[in-house]
Amino acid sequence: MKELKIHSMPELPFAAAEALNQLRINLGFCGDGIRTVMMTSSVPNEGKSFLTIQLWRQMALVGTPVLLIDCDFRNSEMRRKYGIRSANQEKLLSAAHYLAGKAEIQEVIYKTNIPNGYMIPVASTIANPTILLESPQFARMVEYCAQRFAYILIDTPPLCSVADGLNIARHCDGSVLVVRSGSTPRKLVEHSAQLLKRTETPLLGMVLNRADTGSRASAYYQRYYGSSDYGYGRGHSHNKSPNGGT
Ligand SMILES: Nc1ncnc2c1ncn2[C@@H]1O[C@H](COP(=O)(O)OP(=O)(O)O)[C@@H](O)[C@H]1O
Ligand SMILES: [Mg+2]
Repeated sequence: MKELKIHSMPELPFAAAEALNQLRINLGFCGDGIRTVMMTSSVPNEGKSFLTIQLWRQMALVGTPVLLIDCDFRNSEMRRKYGIRSANQEKLLSAAHYLAGKAEIQEVIYKTNIPNGYMIPVASTIANPTILLESPQFARMVEYCAQRFAYILIDTPPLCSVADGLNIARHCDGSVLVVRSGSTPRKLVEHSAQLLKRTETPLLGMVLNRADTGSRASAYYQRYYGSSDYGYGRGHSHNKSPNGGT
């Protein structure tokens, strides 16, 4: 298996790491059958990719073999943002290469410098990935990976911009809707929840990202660990209603 190096991924402050830990544990409570999880949101910049890679790292660190599939083919920033490069300087391959018949599935799955953390990155962006996402190869890819990893986390584009997320949801056991606190209008969140409902893939819960927690506990930790910018809502539930999992 080829290897990727993630060059710039700073440690999270204590409060943020702890909130992610809760998210990881709550995902486990969703049941043994929930292993392929789509991370989505209504609009860009709500924190989908940030939460996907951080949750992926947390899972890997506790010893869970986990695969991150970057399916934001149109606009992925992971490679640049986290300094993701092939360990031996080879050209990177992505899911799109496999879906387009240009690579074998084994060639697009990379191990990383994080033990138990595996990744199918986006090598370069694609203007119109719809055909790739709708191809039977997509289902085959997810099935293949589900047999080999304990969890698969799929990063996706925003639901309200393009239909990619809905195409991807059909192949997942559940989805997590990220909501940027104080920014995403309630109507949009409700609309996204409705869109997801149509896919019949359960909405496992919502993450209220960048929430101003302001509690005494978080103030305590912020004093000691210097966190200020990494607030998360703690909510994550089995409740499928848009108001149920904040
Ligand atoms: N909880 C958070 N704390 C600090 N920075 C965050 C947080 N969530 C997101 N960000 C930052 O906000 C920006 C947008 O997040 P990103 O994950 O790229 O959004 P999306 O994938 O939904 O478009 C990124 O620079 C990311 O690192
Ligand atoms: Mg993103």
